[in-house]
Amino acid sequence: MWLVTAGPTREYLDEVRFLSNASSGRMGYALAAAAGERGEEVLLVSGPVSLPPPERVSRIEVVSALEMLEVCRDRCRRDPVRILFGVAAVCDLRPAARFSGKPSKAELPGKIDLVPNPDVLKSLRTEFPHLRAFGFALEDLGEGEAGREAALERARTKCRRKSLEAIVLNGLGAMDAGSAEYWWVPARGGAEALGARNKEDLARNLVDRVLAEPAP
Ligand code: CTP
Repeated sequence: MWLVTAGPTREYLDEVRFLSNASSGRMGYALAAAAGERGEEVLLVSGPVSLPPPERVSRIEVVSALEMLEVCRDRCRRDPVRILFGVAAVCDLRPAARFSGKPSKAELPGKIDLVPNPDVLKSLRTEFPHLRAFGFALEDLGEGEAGREAALERARTKCRRKSLEAIVLNGLGAMDAGSAEYWWVPARGGAEALGARNKEDLARNLVDRVLAEPAP
């Protein structure tokens, strides 16, 4: 069984205001759909997006990073999850306190204290070491060859820090784009350019790669 995280998280300051990011969820949804098409059982744990659940995929909707981690943890305990793919754009920080109702701007503090959120992928990988884990790294590719090499190095470091088998590097431009350039960056060994692809095509390639590679 696959567990795929997708979409942004929302970190509420009060009942209406929140911290989030521009993730559309399309990449995670495409990946879940591609695994489903290959006959895999898929759980999609998704932050708030405006996409319908893909066919043959069970979706669980969550809001915050803490909730995403709790739901994933619960499912990893109860279900035979073997492959974890972190595609969610989890907010790294959340407001330290949540106000009730909707305070007026005069009642809001001039500064908001933020505290770090847990790393969903890394926490799950640590708690469930039998999982094969993969992720995405959205990095600034900078200028030319040197910028790309530096981004690949950052992606590899991130992959090792989170104990993943491999991470998919993409540039900042990928966030809204129909098509973007991607690299497959294994924890050990060289990176492989996957070229410019749309998200659906990339998703099928990634699923086939994971299924073809023997677990380490
Ligand atoms: N991720 C996660 N939980 C977090 C942050 C990231 O599960 N709190 C996962 C993402 O789903 C993605 C991978 O980790 O698969 C890399 O995300 P990224 O935001 O690039 O990683 P960070 O550790 O937040 O790195 P940075 O220091 O560059 O912000």
